[in-house]
Amino acid sequence: MRGALGQFATGVTVITTTDSDGSPVGVTASSFNSVSLDPPLVLWSLAKSARSMAAFDRSGYFCVHVLAASQEALSARFATPGSDKFGGQDWRPGHGGVPLLQEFAARFQCKTTHTYEGGDHLIFVGEVVDFEKTAEPPLVFHGGRYALAKSKTAGERPGAAVDVTHGTFTENFFLYLLARAHYQASSALRDDWTAAGIDETEYLTLTLLGLGGPLSLQALQVRLDHTGRAPDHRTLPAMIDKGYVTETSDGMHYAITVKGREVYLALLAKSKAIEEQLLADFSDSDVAEVREFLQRFIRQTDPGIPDFWQTSSAD
Ligand SMILES: Cc1cc2nc3c(=O)[nH]c(=O)nc-3n(C[C@H](O)[C@H](O)[C@H](O)COP(=O)(O)O)c2cc1C
Repeated sequence: MRGALGQFATGVTVITTTDSDGSPVGVTASSFNSVSLDPPLVLWSLAKSARSMAAFDRSGYFCVHVLAASQEALSARFATPGSDKFGGQDWRPGHGGVPLLQEFAARFQCKTTHTYEGGDHLIFVGEVVDFEKTAEPPLVFHGGRYALAKSKTAGERPGAAVDVTHGTFTENFFLYLLARAHYQASSALRDDWTAAGIDETEYLTLTLLGLGGPLSLQALQVRLDHTGRAPDHRTLPAMIDKGYVTETSDGMHYAITVKGREVYLALLAKSKAIEEQLLADFSDSDVAEVREFLQRFIRQTDPGIPDFWQTSSAD
């Protein structure tokens, strides 16, 4: 029966109240549902065995936090009996002194109007006295696992965001999204390579030589042609002058110097920090999904660039 019930996908909530001594109490619950709009009523059920039962039964108020997709850890925390559920949490008292958490997809402050016996659970019905909604996508629970809500509405047809007749495009223009995401993500790094006295072509060349090499000018050009920033016959002499690159003894290949490697490693460390900072507010599964999509997209549009990670001195 548990398995069959798991086929009913739900959202995930953290429902809070206060204990008789005023301390905050909360529990993860997927049994939340709407009941009535006029009057505004919602319900949920709590296991009679829950430690928090006495507090919910006595308090007369509760607050339902519909969790956002990024709040899996909070769900796990409030589902663990006996844990320090509110430690480090930012909360303030709401109606009836009930703790209000500050992050949510939606939040309903409720006054308990009825409780009903429901076997090993108690069903709480509450009147909504206040509610808020954010633009955060919700966390979903299905088949005993966390999931993401995905709209089934067909997306816009490729190209539909561009109106060539009027010379306009909307924010759904896929190429615009890709380009803007790239520029916004890399602007901090651009400042750093500029500070190191190199331009984008030199930065890309340094990265390839830092990853592998030595490489010939032609091998570098083949790998960087798609960026529109491939090195030409002036690039490498300029980098040699700056002390970042050296020519190999055969005069045909270029290798990174110790000084070049220092700059390369500093820029790599910066990229890593930027990635961690930019993705901190996205869930692991969101990131995994976008990463997988981009990898497929890159494979499908690959003009035949030799694998970045298999550069060798044979080139
Ligand atoms: C996704 C999810 C949904 C849950 N839904 C409910 C629920 O609707 N009712 C309930 O009593 N317990 C539910 N639980 C279990 C409680 O969160 C868990 O037993 C909690 O530790 C009870 O806290 P307490 O004993 O400290 O009061 C759920 C757990 C998870 C992970």
